[in-house]
Amino acid sequence: MIVIQMQGIKREYRMEAKKGSASKEEAVVVRALRGVDFTAEAGEFVSVMGPSGSGKSTLMNILGCLDKPTEGTYILDGIETSKSNSDTFAYIRNRKIGFVFQSFNLLARTTALENVELPLFYSRRGKKEERLSTQARRNRAREALKEVGLGNRMDHYPSQLSGGQQQRVAIARAMVNDPAFILADEPTGNLDTEMSLEIMSLFQELNNQGKTIIMVTHEPELAAYSKRIITLRDGELVTDMNVSERQNALENLNHWKSTHAEIIPEEHFQ
Ligand SMILES: Nc1ncnc2c1ncn2[C@@H]1O[C@H](COP(=O)(O)OP(=O)(O)OP(=O)(O)O)[C@@H](O)[C@H]1O
Ligand SMILES: [Mg+2]
Repeated sequence: MIVIQMQGIKREYRMEAKKGSASKEEAVVVRALRGVDFTAEAGEFVSVMGPSGSGKSTLMNILGCLDKPTEGTYILDGIETSKSNSDTFAYIRNRKIGFVFQSFNLLARTTALENVELPLFYSRRGKKEERLSTQARRNRAREALKEVGLGNRMDHYPSQLSGGQQQRVAIARAMVNDPAFILADEPTGNLDTEMSLEIMSLFQELNNQGKTIIMVTHEPELAAYSKRIITLRDGELVTDMNVSERQNALENLNHWKSTHAEIIPEEHFQ
């Protein structure tokens, strides 16, 4: 099943000439994307790479329905997004896409459980869909937190969690609506090696269960955990290939732990 179908996607930013400058011709057009074709099937795990300024964030914004292309078509899970009005656009964003950001973006004064419940409040489409009961919302959020291994941290506030745990809460929140795909922008950018490996191992586990993941990353070592890498350059998609020697994050995590773990005698804790 095709989840993402982009054809001839262009995004131009028009920078108006400054006041006082001579003529309109001075308006500058930045061609951030110059006709990108990209298709992804359900169950894929794709990394988006490319140098700074190549158009990755611009592409992510369009993939995530945060922005519309200047030209081209984008069909997400069968919905032609460029023709949709702003309500439908917001609905697609909320229901079809699970966002994971570099900076976690959790609400600070809200527990892990409440953070994960949040997308369920907005998820009704008009009056046609039934609203979930408080209990149903709570149960779904609990399930999602258990899936990311945080069943014992549900009532913790973000400040009471490690960076890796906060990112796992964000991943639970991204999954709770059962989206068409997870869109992750440098998800381990703020994490150390061990936590990064934990997150990649969670992504691989979710992907093994059939979740579709699109991840922007600068690091080839991280892209090696995905299944396919596309590379942008100057707003064009220049390479698209399958990962040949895919890394197993859980194995690498265990190896990392065995070589870096400090052995602290048990008496120390008494
Ligand atoms: N709002 C904007 N207005 C004008 N130009 C923009 C805007 N956003 C991005 N650009 C330009 O579009 C091009 C692509 O930018 P984009 O942010 O997509 O790059 P990127 O690949 O995400 O880079 P990085 O790795 O540094 O985050 C750049 O030349 C950038 O200067
Ligand atoms: Mg960027």
